[in-house]
Amino acid sequence: MRVFVTYAIPEKGINMLKERFEVDVYTGEEFLSKEEMIKRAEYADAIVTQLRDPIDKEFIYSLKKAKIIANYAVGYNNIDIEAAKERGIYVTNTPGVLTEATADIAFALILAVARRIVESDKFVREGKFVGWKPKLFLGYDLYGKTLGVIGMGRIGQAVARRALGFGMNIVYYNRNRLPEEIEKQYNAKYVNIDELVEISDYISLHTPLTKETYHLINKERIAKMKPNAILVNTARGPVVDEQALYEALKERRIAGAGFDVYENEPVLTPGLEKLDNVVLLPHIGSATYETRDKMSEIVAINVMEALDGKRPSNCVW
Ligand code: DGY
Repeated sequence: MRVFVTYAIPEKGINMLKERFEVDVYTGEEFLSKEEMIKRAEYADAIVTQLRDPIDKEFIYSLKKAKIIANYAVGYNNIDIEAAKERGIYVTNTPGVLTEATADIAFALILAVARRIVESDKFVREGKFVGWKPKLFLGYDLYGKTLGVIGMGRIGQAVARRALGFGMNIVYYNRNRLPEEIEKQYNAKYVNIDELVEISDYISLHTPLTKETYHLINKERIAKMKPNAILVNTARGPVVDEQALYEALKERRIAGAGFDVYENEPVLTPGLEKLDNVVLLPHIGSATYETRDKMSEIVAINVMEALDGKRPSNCVW
């Protein structure tokens, strides 16, 4: 049986697959075009995809043999799940293993924006540091401040756990309220999203991208945020109306923002890169050696399960 991998993932998973299957890994640097992907995937029994691959109806209906599309990501908004379901093709993701790495990046962004780490680093490198000054690069405390977590699933909770250690108060908004014992664990108060954006000093996004979460952070909600508010997004870009956020940041209506993801990734809202109150990362939430290895193992396990005729452990439908 043949497995097609649309972009090279860590060897760990590839080697597991190679023990059992013929594995066709695209190893180029440039991304494959959709046409090229369709050609190479057509007769594959399993396809390993990346979060930037548009796995739409056309792609899914072009597959002749595939039993599984194993997405190398926890998010799977790049895949037309309904079309896969119609074709009886399993779709899997890689939940759990990237929770801590992604929570670390969310917290790194909170700290980097609040304490102006990137600006300060640039200042020193440019030879501008001539000595300690009482008002040099003043930022914001975390201690005693309120963190609003939007999407209190695995990653949201891991961020809340970090925030507890920093002496922050936690409020959260989630589709469903969490059981009392979990709320107690994080000393977290459930609020509605409009209250959350009004009372939080820091806001961290951890929702999947769905029809319901598209532009969840819109112009109106941005307008309700505190002037010292800092928003970080390590979830998916389109959860935020990026143009509206850009305008608020430019006019200093909120203090800052940290981006790991973008509405039109990899393209940025024009002007965003010129603002000094933002920190911009290239979607590296899960980018640690350990995590990416584990993600590749999960992908391989799911592919093996599907090709052995079983329902894969991480099927999303
Ligand atoms: C995911 O897996 O969905 C993440 O965005 C990757 O970093």
